[in-house]
Amino acid sequence: MDKSVKSWTFRYSHKDKPIPDGWVYTHCLGHHGAEGYGILSKENRQKDDYYPTPPEATEALLSKFPFAAKVWEPACGDGAISKVLTAAGHDVISTDLNDWGYGQINIDFLMEPKKLADCVITNPPYKLANQFVLKCIDLNVSKFAMLLRLAFLEGKERRSVIYNTYPPCDVLVFSQRLTMIRGDHDKSWYGSGKMAFAWFVWEKGFKGKPRLDWL
Ligand SMILES: C[S@@+](CC[C@H](N)C(=O)[O-])C[C@H]1O[C@@H](n2cnc3c(N)ncnc32)[C@H](O)[C@@H]1O
Repeated sequence: MDKSVKSWTFRYSHKDKPIPDGWVYTHCLGHHGAEGYGILSKENRQKDDYYPTPPEATEALLSKFPFAAKVWEPACGDGAISKVLTAAGHDVISTDLNDWGYGQINIDFLMEPKKLADCVITNPPYKLANQFVLKCIDLNVSKFAMLLRLAFLEGKERRSVIYNTYPPCDVLVFSQRLTMIRGDHDKSWYGSGKMAFAWFVWEKGFKGKPRLDWL
């Protein structure tokens, strides 16, 4: 074990370097990722980013738009979105980097070389939300919907890297805040709707101004 990294929770490492015991490697896109760098994290579960989606959030999305029969949920967690999609008759491919007891595990969406379906619906890890959007675009996914914080609309860099070239076709804002319960937490602790969320929907080739609506 590399003693110099002991006190860190995250650090960059190159893909060609040995991974110390107890650490896992997550490739990232962008400047560093392009050169083979990724993030080493001490835990194999990104606990802070595991917030299962309340079923009514996915039901609300499905009530607004049709989606293809075959859907990929690439950060499926415990299947909170996948189960609603399946119940609505979709053929769902569920994958996740971590093991939350559902779908295929150890699959880093950002490292996937090809799309497993032409439609993606997910609530991505917030820290990697930009990369998830760009990955769907890279994979040439025809239609994808991401549950994101409303604040995802902001950001100078995001505007330049995503919105100027790839505007979403629809932004569906939740009029009532969603209550997200941290998935790996004691069930007695409840998130209390502190965050405003929206579904952001992208369709291949869309170049107009995004439509805004409320759920
Ligand atoms: C906010 S949770 C949402 C879980 C599920 N999509 C839902 O809506 O209930 C984010 C999920 O992303 C997974 N994840 C984090 N990084 C990932 C990656 N690079 N590739 C695939 N899944 C990842 C986490 O394990 C976690 O299950």
